[in-house]
Amino acid sequence: MNNGATFTADWLAEALQGRIRQDGVPQNRQIYRALREMILAGQLTADCRLPSSRALAQELAIARNTVLFAYEQLLAEGYLQTRHGSGSYVSAVLPAARRPEPKPAAPAMGGVSRRASQWLVALATRGERAPRSGHAFVPGRPDIQAFPLAVWQRLLARHWRQTNPAELDYLSAGGHSALKRALADYLKLARSVDVAAEQIVVTSGTQQSLDLLARLLADAGDRAWVEEPGYPGTVAAFQANGLRLQAMPVDGEGLNWQASPGPSPRLIYITPSHQYPTGSVMSLARRLALLEYAAETGAWIIEDDYDSEFRYGGRPLAALQGLDRNGQVAYLGTCSKMMFPGLRIGYMVLPLSLVEPARRMLARLYRETAYPQQLALADFIADGHLAMHIKRMRACYAQRQQLLRDHWQAELGDAVPLTGGDTGIHLLAPLPAACDDRAISLAVLAKDIIAPPLSEYCLSPEKQRGLVLGYAAVREEEMAPAVQHLAHCLTSFI
Ligand SMILES: Cc1ncc(COP(=O)(O)O)c(C=O)c1O
Repeated sequence: MNNGATFTADWLAEALQGRIRQDGVPQNRQIYRALREMILAGQLTADCRLPSSRALAQELAIARNTVLFAYEQLLAEGYLQTRHGSGSYVSAVLPAARRPEPKPAAPAMGGVSRRASQWLVALATRGERAPRSGHAFVPGRPDIQAFPLAVWQRLLARHWRQTNPAELDYLSAGGHSALKRALADYLKLARSVDVAAEQIVVTSGTQQSLDLLARLLADAGDRAWVEEPGYPGTVAAFQANGLRLQAMPVDGEGLNWQASPGPSPRLIYITPSHQYPTGSVMSLARRLALLEYAAETGAWIIEDDYDSEFRYGGRPLAALQGLDRNGQVAYLGTCSKMMFPGLRIGYMVLPLSLVEPARRMLARLYRETAYPQQLALADFIADGHLAMHIKRMRACYAQRQQLLRDHWQAELGDAVPLTGGDTGIHLLAPLPAACDDRAISLAVLAKDIIAPPLSEYCLSPEKQRGLVLGYAAVREEEMAPAVQHLAHCLTSFI
C-alpha cells in the first residue's frame, strides 16, 4: 500500500498487472506508459518514492532491466527524479508539455469554448464539404487512373537515385532552375505566356500561390474583387488573409466590373480562359479594358489558368498575361488538372519586381517542394510526356463530356440545359432561381453523387442556382446510371 511517502512494490505491482497485456508491445514500454498514465492521473502523487527497480521486478516476476528501462525513460522525460542514494521519486513539477490536458472542447456546432479565430469558428460550425473522391461528378477532378504512373515512377526513381545532398537541404530558390526552364518553354508555346524562367516561382499549387499573393500584394482590410460565381478556394485564401471581398458579376464575356461600380480594389482575381464555374471566356475587349483599368488604378490582376489545356474546339486560348505591358499580372498555373492533384506542384509567373519577395516569402513561410520531384516534373515536360498526356486526356474528356450530354438529353430533354464545356473538365447546369440547389445536391448525395450547388460558389448565395458537374473522372460505364440518378432527383425538384 501507499504509506504516504513510499509506494510499496507489492501495491505498485498489483496496480501495474492489470495494465500489462500480451499484445506485442514490449513490457518495458508498457510499464513506462502505465507509470506515466498513473502519474498524469494523480494516482502516483508528487514527491512520493517508487519502490526500487529490483523490488518491483521481483514482484512482477520480470527481468530487472525491463523495469530499469521504464524508470530511466520517465527520468529522462522529467516524470521522475532521483535523490542521491535514496531512489526514484515522482517529480514535484511535471514537465509543461506533459501536464494532463483538459479534454478538448468538442468542435461541434457552436461548441468552441476556448478563444480562437473567427476562421476556426466558421470551420467548426459550417459543416464539411462533400467528399471529393470516388464519385460522379466531382468538379475539378481529372482521371487520375489514366495518368502514366509508370513513367512518373521511373523519372522519380531516377532523380531520387541521382539526388545530390545539396538538393535535400533547406532551399530558397523559388523552385529548381531546370523546372523553371521547362515550365517557361511549355508556357510560351502552349499558353502564349510572356515569360522568362527567372519570372517563375514554383509553389505547392494554386492554393498556396493565392495565399502568397494575398500576403505579398495586400494588407488585411484591403479590397479584393472575386468572380461571382467563383472559385471558393480563392475566397478562402483571401478571407484567411483578412481581405475585404467584393463579388463581381460574371457574364458571357467574363468579369463584368463595369456593371458594379465602386471603389477600386488592390487585387482582381480572374479565370479569363475558362471562368470557374460558368465556363465563359473573357473577350479580348474586356481583357484590354481590364488591363487598362488596372494600369489606371494600380490594382494587381491575378490570372488563374487552371484547366485551359483542355480546350476541345481548337488551340488553347492565349493567356491574358501575354497582353500585359505594365507588369501588373500574376499568372498562376497548376499541375492538379493536367497531371494529378496529389502532386502538389503549381507555379506563378510574376513581374520581375515581385519574384524576389515571393521567393523569400515562400522560403520563410512554407519552404520548397522536394527537388527530386521538381526535377522529375522538368523531365516529364521536356521529354514530351506532359504534352502527350494532355493530348490523350483531351480526347478522352471530350468523349466523356459528349456522353454526359447525350445521357442528360435522353433523361431530361431540354428541361435543364448544360452550359460551358468548350474548355475544361466540368459543365454547369443552371437552375431557375426558385430551385433550392443545396437541397438537390443533398438529395443526390444520398445516391453517392456529388453535384455541388452553384450557390456555394457565390458570396450572395440567393442570387444564382445550379449544379456544377465534373465529368473527367467518370468512367464510361458509370455515366448512364449516374445521370439517371441525378435526373431522377432533379425532376422531383423542378
Ligand atoms: C479555379 C481553380 N483554380 C485552381 C484550382 C487548383 O488548385 P490547386 O493547384 O491548389 O490544386 C482549382 C481546383 O479545383 C480550381 O477550380
